[in-house]
Amino acid sequence: MTLAASSPVVHARAPGKINVFLAVGALQDDGYHDLATAYQAVSLYEDVRAYPADDFSVSFGGSVDTSGLEVDGSNLAIKAARLLARKTGYRGGVRLEIEKNVPIAGGMGGGSADAAASLIACDALWGTELGKDEMHALAAKLGADVPFALAGGTAIGTGRGDQLSPALAQGNFHWVLAVAEFGMSTPAVYAELDRHRERNAADIRPAAVSPQVDARVLHALRAGDSVLLAEALHNDLQAPALHLAPGLGQILELGEANGALAGIVSGSGPTLAFLAPDADTALELQVALSASRLTAVRAHGPVHGARVMHS
Ligand code: C5P
Repeated sequence: MTLAASSPVVHARAPGKINVFLAVGALQDDGYHDLATAYQAVSLYEDVRAYPADDFSVSFGGSVDTSGLEVDGSNLAIKAARLLARKTGYRGGVRLEIEKNVPIAGGMGGGSADAAASLIACDALWGTELGKDEMHALAAKLGADVPFALAGGTAIGTGRGDQLSPALAQGNFHWVLAVAEFGMSTPAVYAELDRHRERNAADIRPAAVSPQVDARVLHALRAGDSVLLAEALHNDLQAPALHLAPGLGQILELGEANGALAGIVSGSGPTLAFLAPDADTALELQVALSASRLTAVRAHGPVHGARVMHS
């Protein structure tokens, strides 16, 4: 194996995300649902450091409790590194050290960010220089949200959420995230939505009709207008997530009573994302949620996608 003697470690960073709009369509034969979503990358980051090694390993630290994470081959960061090695014929391994700041199993794409940052860190460490399209294809194999963690910014996702088109956006949106002490399984939340739709046949979107991102969301993002975006925030996974974790409803009310323009379940939850009108109100809201013994963090978006950090 070739070691890059001058740079024995590569540091890459990828952001978490909020789905500011998420419409879930029909369940497909592959077990995935047809989606239309608007992603915004936000300033909670996963920092991956990749060191040359003969085999594949991962370890975790950071501001969130990482003690429950798997560090074997089932970990998405290791899967990403192995996939890149297989694709490029690289014969060595990598030791990955990940500093996590995105809530785990929280609906903010932390695992996807690990995978995206690991892909680009290994690509740089190994000198495999995969092109953008090939990287995107590998990312999509790893998970529906991984291509967006690579791309960052603001984007519309269709298909599984992995078919991206950039969306025009300006300005800076201020978020406060209420992080739950428990995680939620994404497949379980989708399954709850399917059960709900079976019980209420009228809610089922006809399979032939593809979900669409509401034009008001695109307009609000283009205008950089938080008030307009707050009015258009929508997530089809919110009702099933609240059904599985009813306590989240009260926290949504608490945030909206303390300055948030609106609150929404992030992705499949249980993290709640509150949109604030400005940075000062976001700080006040964070203080109010913390006073109620909730873990609240601030973030802004949109931010860059996965990239190598040069110090
Ligand atoms: O691709 P990812 O591993 O993030 O997806 C996790 C699970 O979430 C899938 O196995 C599926 O159950 C559900 N999912 C879905 N439709 C999507 C994305 C995810 O049903 N578009």
